[in-house]
Amino acid sequence: MVTVTDFLRKKEKGEKIVILTAYDYLTAKIVDSAGVDGILVGDSLAMVVLGYPSTLQVTMDEMIHHTKAVVRGTQNALVIFDMPFLSYQTGKRDAVLNAGRALKEAGANAVKVEGGVEQAETIRAIVEAGIPVMGHVGLQPQSVNLYGGYRLRGKEEEERRRILEDAKAVEEAGAFAVVLEKVPSDLAKEITETLKIPTIGIGAGPYCDGQVLVFHDMVGLFKEFKPKFVKRYAELGEKAERAVKEFIEEVKSGKFPGPEHSY
Ligand code: KIV
Ligand code: NA
Repeated sequence: MVTVTDFLRKKEKGEKIVILTAYDYLTAKIVDSAGVDGILVGDSLAMVVLGYPSTLQVTMDEMIHHTKAVVRGTQNALVIFDMPFLSYQTGKRDAVLNAGRALKEAGANAVKVEGGVEQAETIRAIVEAGIPVMGHVGLQPQSVNLYGGYRLRGKEEEERRRILEDAKAVEEAGAFAVVLEKVPSDLAKEITETLKIPTIGIGAGPYCDGQVLVFHDMVGLFKEFKPKFVKRYAELGEKAERAVKEFIEEVKSGKFPGPEHSY
């Protein structure tokens, strides 16, 4: 079983950390047996699996429902529960209780919280309750309404400085790792060299201590849009659609089921 201390040890040894998302039992089994270090039950569940317009709509109960399935399919990886919108922004008490549910009810090993300096006290409170926290700075999808969309973060000097401060605050608050989302590679490099905890990049270039992608993006299942930072390692969406079309054809023509599928 991978633990949060393994994450720190990997950074010290210069070994890359690999994380993928999963939202169900079967996907968890696939990525876990392939050998990822961590499985993130991302609040991207909202868009990728539940069809909501953004990540803001997904609830604690929905996240817990899916995380339970992921935990059942995981034998080795660290399961990280992505705290959904309003499960921690309303105060430390709510944050600790909800993070506690992620471990107690869903069986996750850690939680992830978006935010830097302004969430540092909340992160500290969760960690003090005995719950490992992964931070998330740079692009924070739960705050898109405040910052005007999903653009690259940290291009201008002031925002760059703020993101570095956010990452430091997350580390000082006791987080065991921090996600850097959609920031320039040289900023991610500076943060990675500054922090003792590992940085996990998504759209943050090659210098991070690890990388995370959304499973459905990297296997070509989610195709509504493709950010530049996604690499498609397979085209499972197209394959599945072709298979379904063939099934329809064969049922209509009477080719399926054949004798070998019949009793
Ligand atoms: O929700 C998610 O999938 C995430 C990762 C992309 C980091 O937060
Ligand atoms: Na997320």
